[in-house]
This record gives sequence, structure tokens and C-alpha cells, in this order.
Amino acid sequence: MTNDTNAQAAALRHILADELERSGDLYSPQWRRVVERVPRHLFVPEFFRRADSDRGTLWEPVSREHELDRWLDLAYRNETWVTQLDGHLTPHDLTEPVSGNPTSSSTLPGLVVEMLEYLAVDDGTRVLEIGTGTGYSTALMCDRLGDDHVTSVEVDPDVAAGAAAALRRAGLSPNLVIGDGLLGDPQNAPYDRVIATCSVRHIPRAWLDQTRPGGRILVTVAGWLHGYGLAVLEVADDGTAEGRFLPGTISFMIARPQAAPPVGDEHWTGTIEALAGAEPRPAVIEPDIRADWTGAFVAQLGAPGAQWKARRVDGGPWVDYFVDVDAGSAASLTPEPGGGWTVRQTGPARLWDDVETAVVRWREAGSPPQERFRIRTDGHTQTVWFLSGGKPVTWDLSA
Ligand SMILES: C[S@@+](CC[C@H](N)C(=O)[O-])C[C@H]1O[C@@H](n2cnc3c(N)ncnc32)[C@H](O)[C@@H]1O
Repeated sequence: MTNDTNAQAAALRHILADELERSGDLYSPQWRRVVERVPRHLFVPEFFRRADSDRGTLWEPVSREHELDRWLDLAYRNETWVTQLDGHLTPHDLTEPVSGNPTSSSTLPGLVVEMLEYLAVDDGTRVLEIGTGTGYSTALMCDRLGDDHVTSVEVDPDVAAGAAAALRRAGLSPNLVIGDGLLGDPQNAPYDRVIATCSVRHIPRAWLDQTRPGGRILVTVAGWLHGYGLAVLEVADDGTAEGRFLPGTISFMIARPQAAPPVGDEHWTGTIEALAGAEPRPAVIEPDIRADWTGAFVAQLGAPGAQWKARRVDGGPWVDYFVDVDAGSAASLTPEPGGGWTVRQTGPARLWDDVETAVVRWREAGSPPQERFRIRTDGHTQTVWFLSGGKPVTWDLSA
């Protein structure tokens, strides 16, 4: 990097910090100083840029090597930069856009600093991060708290190696662990804070055990219907944790061990056949509930084992399928030409009945926003609820 490039990068960091302050994500002077200091470009030497096309979503490789000015400018944009697709593909050696599913990224800086503000750290706070990714968020915490106060766990060894190299380049040396972050870091526990930059369906017992009483866990609770909620929980003396969901629309890739089970070809064919012979009924709640942020979260609370797929059979309309592989159950929702949707269900769990019950309870309570929801867990039994007329409306999400 030349002096010119370094000066340009410093100027871009200043602009980014201004933008994050304007958006309200960044408000404390300590984190502002950190954003102004930590060189994000070292953590994203190459990444993918989303490019929608008639072939669906494609990912265009961008790298320092091929287009220095554009790369540097993009590196400091308030955008998420995907750095790995399908668990192995990186922009390295690619010149053309490719398709794939993001499996690692440098999270939107606005979201990272918003989470760091929620983490409420002070000098001396010891933090365990789950999901090192590029190492950028790790670097921000090192700059604020000191290397020896930060541990970060990354499950993917290649991703972890990239982050380790970038952190070294930035002159930082936190404790880096390669492994499943759902197990935490028992060796160096207890921590004052756990922050996860991947989402989880169930908050693992290990995080509760490894957070000191009064400490905080900041994590996005998610599921296979793509409902998400960022929660901050406080760990109690008895090792349980309780907390609230925060406002905003924050989503993270799910922790790899908690990813949805694949729906195999045989399972899929059997499901379609069983649904074709199932009794139809009109839908009370339509599948576009998934487009409503809190509605999708509530639908998922109703059918936590379900995953969603859309399919078009023989040139017919797009049909929404909800499949619970473990329960051996499924539901389909087919649009009717005159409006409305028809539901068909198969298997012991009536998935769409469960979604409708949850959504109707939520709507009858006046559709409260996500920040009215609370969460409690002992690492095994996980409960989400909101109060309606002083009474809890509760869902059990036990693992
Ligand atoms: C959104 S990225 C992290 C972004 C990162 N904090 C940054 O600023 O660049 C999520 C990361 O979580 C990692 N991950 C997924 N499951 C994990 C697990 N069980 N333990 C540790 N890391 C995990 C993924 O490999 C991915 O690198």
C-alpha cells in the first residue's frame, strides 16, 4: 500500500464513521475512534459483490489485485461483503460472476457497530466472539479492549486462516480458536460478554456456563423459515439467562451445525406425492406472512422445525412448501386463480395449522413488534414470549 492509498483509506474511514453516526448505529466516542482506526480494507482483500441477473443472483468477484481504486472505495462502504460461497468458493482466481450461497462475509459495518454498542463493554471487559469471519469485528474489539481481552472462534479453517493473517497485518493478536463456536471456549472462560455473528436456533448451554453471572450474551435467534431476532440476554447466578429482543432487522447466516437438514430427493418426491393426495382447505394465513419481519419470526415460532421451499411443477403456479424433515411432515400452499390460497398438509405435525395458530395469537394481541418479545433459556429449555393484557403468550423452543 502506498502512502496515498493509506491516506485515502483513512479519509474513507472518516466518511464511514460519519455515515454510521448519522444512521444512529454508532453513538459512543470510543467506538467512533475505533472505526476511524481499524483498516477494514486489510480484512477484505477480495470479496463478492451481489449482481442480480436473469440467471438469478450471481456474485461478482472484486479484488485489490485487479481494481485497486474501486476495491478500496467498496471496502469502506456500509455494505456486507460476502467472502465465501458454498463453504469453499472464494473470489481468488475467479474473473466472472458465479452463483452460490454465502457462507462467510464481512458483516455490514453499521450492524457490527450497532451490536458493539449493545454489547455495552468497558475497559477490562473480556469478550468471546463466535464467527470470526474476516476478522474485522474481532479487530474492532481488539482495538477497543486490547488483544488479551478478545477471543474469537471460527468453524471454517480456511476462513480462520484468512482472518488470522489479516489480524496479523493489522498488528493485532487476539486469542483465535478454530472449531465449533457453539462449544464456546471453556479453557479461557468465564467471559463478561458473548457476541455471535452467526445466528442460532438454540442458545447453547456452553455459552451460559462460560459467561459470568451478570454478563451478557448478544445473539441473533433464527430458524429455517428465515425469521430472525437480535436478543440480548443477561446471565443469572443460577446459570440461566433472560433478555429481550432488540429493534431493527438484523439477519445472520445460521451456525453451521444448526443448518436446516437437507431434503433428499426421495423425501422430496414422497412429500409431493403425499401432499397431492391430502385434503385441501382454504388458508387463513397466507404464505406472504414470510415477508413481514415479525410475522416471519412468529410463523417460525409456530413451526420451528419447518423449512421453506418454493417450487413450480409442470409450468403451473409457484407453490410454497413447508417441510419438517425430522417430524416427517409437510404443508403446501397453492395460489387460487380467483385469489386466496389452498393448504394441503401431510404427516403427524400439521405445520400450517401450527403457523396459523401462532400468527392468529400474535395478531389478536395487536401484532406487537419484535422488541416486545422476550427470551429465557437454561441451555435446554428455550422459551420466547410477549405479554398481552398482562398475560404471557409463550412458545417453547427446546432443543
Ligand atoms: C457473518 S460471518 C462473520 C462476520 C465477522 N464477524 C466479520 O466481521 O467479518 C459468520 C461466520 O460465522 C462462521 N460460523 C458459522 N457457524 C459457526 C460455528 N458453529 N462456530 C464458529 N463460527 C461459525 C462462518 O463460517 C462465518 O465465517
